[in-house]
Formats: sequence, C-alpha cells, structure tokens
Amino acid sequence: MTNTRSAITGVHAYVPDYVLTNAELEKLVETNDEWIVTRTGIRERHILKGEGLATSYLGEQAVRGLLEKTGTNPEEVELLICATVTPDMMFPDTANLIAYRTGMKNAFTFDLSAACSGFLFALTTGAKYIESGLYKKVIVVGADKMSSIVDYTDRATCILFGDAGGAVLLEPSNDGNGIMDAVLHSDGSGAENLYQKAGGSLKPASHETVDAKEHFAYQNGRPVYKAAVSGMSGVVKEVMQRNGLSADDVAWVVPHQANLRILESVASMADFPMEKVMVNIHKYGNTTAATLPLCLWEWESQLKKGDNIILTAFGGGYTWGAILVKWAY
Ligand code: UT7
Repeated sequence: MTNTRSAITGVHAYVPDYVLTNAELEKLVETNDEWIVTRTGIRERHILKGEGLATSYLGEQAVRGLLEKTGTNPEEVELLICATVTPDMMFPDTANLIAYRTGMKNAFTFDLSAACSGFLFALTTGAKYIESGLYKKVIVVGADKMSSIVDYTDRATCILFGDAGGAVLLEPSNDGNGIMDAVLHSDGSGAENLYQKAGGSLKPASHETVDAKEHFAYQNGRPVYKAAVSGMSGVVKEVMQRNGLSADDVAWVVPHQANLRILESVASMADFPMEKVMVNIHKYGNTTAATLPLCLWEWESQLKKGDNIILTAFGGGYTWGAILVKWAY
C-alpha cells in the first residue's frame, strides 16, 4: 500500500421517468397513502419500463453521465465494479455489459452482491485498487431494477422499492482528501429475513417456484427494522469515534434510504440533527445499491472540499457498514 488515498472525483445518477405514486399502489393492493407515508416516508418511486431495459441500462445511463461530466475517456478506465442484487442475468456480470456499452475497452469488471450495502462494499473494494498505486481510474456503480423482483400483489414489499442507478469515479488523491476509513460487517444469521427464495442454485427456477412467487423479494420487516437501526447507528458511532470526530465535525450523514423512521432513529442515536442527514426517500423509495450515489448526486452542489461525510447502509444478509469520506472537490 502507498500513502495515496482514493478520492471520489465525480458522481452521477439516473432515475427512470415513470413515477409510481402511492395513489397508484392503492389501486393494486390494500394500502393507503397515509399508511405508506407515516410508516415509511415514501410518496413515490421511479420504475424502469420498456422491453429489454434492465439493471445494466440504469448503470449505463449513470456511467455515461459520469464520463461526460468528468471528461473521462472510457478507454482510460481500468476497473468497473457494479453492486447489484438484480443483475441482468446470473452471468455474465452486469458490470461487463455496462463497460462494453460505454466503450471501456481496457477495463476489467465484476459484480458485487451485498444487497443494500452493495455500494458501500464496492466503494471500499474499488478504493483499495487505487490505494495500491497500480490503478488510476476506477468506476463504482450501484444499480438495481428492484421492480423486476417485487411482487406487486404483496403490500408489505411493493410499496418500498424503486429503480435507479448511480456511479462514482475514483482517482488517486494526495491532498489528504478521499476515503478515510470503513467499518463493514456481514452476518448470515439474518439471511431468512430478507431474501429471494428461488432462482439460485438452492432452488432453481421452476413452474413450482414461480407459482409460489418465490422469485420475488421476501422481507420480514420488523426484525430487519430493528437490526438496521442498531447496525447503522453502531457503525456510524464507531467510525466517528476511531477518527476522533464529533457530530459538529461531520457535514453530512448519507444513510441508506429504506424507511424514514429508521433514518430518524439512527440520527438521534448518533446525535445528528436531521438537517445534516440526506433524505430523498419520499421521491425514490428504497433503490437498494443505487441509494447512496443517488443521494451524493442530488446533494453534489452543496458538498465542499474537505467536508467530512459519513455514508452508512444496512441490508439483506445481513450486511452493513459506514465509510468516512473527506469530500475531494
Ligand atoms: O433495505 C434493506 C433493509 N430494509 C429495511 O430496513 C426495512 C425495515 N423494515 C421496515 O421498514 C418496516 O418493517 C416496514 C415498512 C417494512 C413495515 O412497517 P412496520 O411498521 O414494521 O409494519 P408491520 O410489518 O409490522 O405491519 C403492521 C401492520 C400489519 O397489520 P396487522 O397485522 O397489525 O393487522 C400489516 O399487515 O400493517 C400492515 N401492513 C400494511 N397496511 C397497509 C403491512 N404493509 C401494509 C401496507 N399498507 N402497505
């Protein structure tokens, strides 16, 4: 390892045009706007419609915008990682499709699966390639077409999720800014509370699995809720403590957007006023791996060089973590 840090030098995101409102969900399942807003904070989410458009399309749009705004030649990109739980296909990797379509002839690629923590895990992984001194341009994508695995007859899950893609460019930095620290965890004991029951090697897709709707995302919300609050508040406090930071030293907390009540609890447990917490769940719902870059993209114009920013997420697995970033531009 060198003393070089890995800095985020650009961010871009993409949300599809179609907006699925709570009013429309009221026509599909036994629910109502008041329940959805008070229990989750979600008012609408964006859904990718169109034949042949999958997660790679969401990632591709985010990456195209990122290359353009940062003036990056795609042939200079050496690695592209895509965090997703809704890959276009089980193989090849979705990252490979994104890289091919955006002209990254010299990049190697892989997907990373860590559910809602996918972007955190992929960002940490991508940063290590830069820190090694061997790589100069790495792109990390978080993209999910959650609508492809949501059961629109199940009111417990269909109100929660939306589709989006986001991407960041990582480059070496020697001015003290960049990715400073990461606390990441996995605990497979939570697997049965949030997962896709069939379609993998355990239960390959069959008429029976489809009839039983086992190809959709299943969630037992209450235990996940509790684990998300304690998991995220714990790692946020840990990352602050080991870097000697108080809430006053941190400009923004960027939490995974699964439920507004979870965000409020995490903020209060870590002593952050909500004004410092990025919240866009009302517009997009839970976009799984895309959530964190989507927040950074929306807040980009308010971020200042040197700002301490804490990204945190919790998701299926369980997986969770927090990353401290000193914003680099
Ligand atoms: O992103 C990965 C991590 N995921 C999370 O962090 C999500 C964590 N979990 C949650 O955010 C919440 O548990 C949910 C939003 C999923 C559910 O909220 P909840 O307050 O935990 O509700 P619940 O599942 O305990 O259900 C309470 C009641 C039930 O009715 P009864 O049994 O009390 O009669 C449900 O059937 O609300 C009912 N319910 C609904 N009612 C209207 C469940 N979904 C709906 C709905 N509309 N869409």
